Amino acid sequence: MERKKQVVTIVGAGSTRIPALIGSLIHYKKEFPLQKLVLFDIDMNRIEALRHYIELTMEKYYEGVELVFTDKEDEAYIGTDYVFCNMRAGNFEMRSLDEKIPLKYDLVGQETCGPGGFAYGMRSIGAMIDMVKKVREHSKDAWILNYTNPAAIVAVALDKVFPEDKKILNICDQPYSMIRSFAKILEVDMYDIEPRYFGLNHFGWFTKLYYAPTGEDLIPKLKEFLIGNEFRPYNAEQREQSWLDTYKNVNKMLSFFPEYLPNTYLQYYFFPEEIVKGSNPNYTRSDEALNGREREVLELCKKAKEQNSLDGIPLLAGAVHGNMMVEVAESIAYDLKKVFVIMTRNEGIIPNLPKDAMIEVAGELTKTGIDPYEVGEVDTFYKGLIEGQYAYEKLTVESVLECNYEKALQALTLNRTVVNPVKAKAVLDDLMEANKDYWYLK
Ligand code: NAD
Ligand code: G6P
Ligand code: MN
Repeated sequence: MERKKQVVTIVGAGSTRIPALIGSLIHYKKEFPLQKLVLFDIDMNRIEALRHYIELTMEKYYEGVELVFTDKEDEAYIGTDYVFCNMRAGNFEMRSLDEKIPLKYDLVGQETCGPGGFAYGMRSIGAMIDMVKKVREHSKDAWILNYTNPAAIVAVALDKVFPEDKKILNICDQPYSMIRSFAKILEVDMYDIEPRYFGLNHFGWFTKLYYAPTGEDLIPKLKEFLIGNEFRPYNAEQREQSWLDTYKNVNKMLSFFPEYLPNTYLQYYFFPEEIVKGSNPNYTRSDEALNGREREVLELCKKAKEQNSLDGIPLLAGAVHGNMMVEVAESIAYDLKKVFVIMTRNEGIIPNLPKDAMIEVAGELTKTGIDPYEVGEVDTFYKGLIEGQYAYEKLTVESVLECNYEKALQALTLNRTVVNPVKAKAVLDDLMEANKDYWYLK
């Protein structure tokens, strides 16, 4: 049977990740066919920089799709089926401050973890609530697939504000990216690996990696490999040093806690001092990304525009971010029950953790959303870690919704990358000043 064609709206379409996402839509045009693609951003200049390349690409590789570039919400959300949300409130300018301000206090400076992730969460929440309201004004049945970071905090906020909305899914590509890396090491097809996983977003562990053809759990083999070898991402050749160091720290975490395979993001919580020591306060990940992906993609798009053709210009495709977004939408649209690691309200999946926590677990994606695999009770060590981090997430959300300074201070003090209330207060005051156009607390 022919698959129904879909209308997709990309929010934050001025991001330089979007050309590769369009490459994924092209790659999967049979699996997830499009009728219309709307590229929406609040900053039309960012879309303009990519527009010619996108038009030429769609013309060459994907005929018959209606293409709309817009900064008008109404136009973006009327009659849409899937909203892929990939916005960055405050752009790279604010990401840079999220990373650099904490380093002034010898605290981890990171996009989604620690005080930087906190400040970013405070910015994302308002913009995301507005987006969901607008989408629902126009398309009450559209699926909202959210990738906007810090996804852990955004997920808690959206669940609190829209508790009855069953068509909002929050997703992260890091477990997917790690599975692709595991598959490369083990020389198997990543789609043959069925993970089991638990935790919070950017704060979780793989417990099993079932190899579908035989049912074997591949984790013992992987652990054996990782004892003697550096863990490298599948695309190590294209990665900057900070990402290679990040993957390497999985080996280090395993040397202390070998039970499960940790998500790379746990490094910030286990080794905050070492991470700070290894950081350059004048050149953080946002600088790397600006000088890497941002520059390369913008140059390629500029060239396409100048020559008005794709001659000598590659099709950007195959990125985990884009592929996963399309595969997730495909599994929902055609009820495929493919397995992904996704955020969902706990509700007893892990009985000894709060019911309202937005946990990250493996499950099958169906037309009604995630059908999670049961996890069962988790051991005291993981329970303690997760409860502390969840308390931080919850207080962060409450703090921004209530403009509550005290809760913000409590949140940062609970965060394992901070701990000391003296430092928590200093960094909070600094971040509040830098973010005064976005959030304020009393
Ligand atoms: P980027 O800064 O390159 O682009 C983001 C775009 O969002 C910009 O063009 C900006 O103008 C636009 N924007 C800002 N506020 C907006 C709003 N209110 N509505 C619509 N558009 C808005 O960002 P990027 O590096 O591609 O990342 C985009 C987002 O996706 C970030 O939140 C990032 O953290 C997140 N991300 C998440 C995952 C994941 O695992 N969930 C993976 C990759 C990226
Ligand atoms: C991974 C994470 C995302 C994060 C991204 C940062 O994909 O899952 O949540 O936003 O890395 O990548 P960047 O290249 O922008 O540093
Ligand atoms: Mn992520």
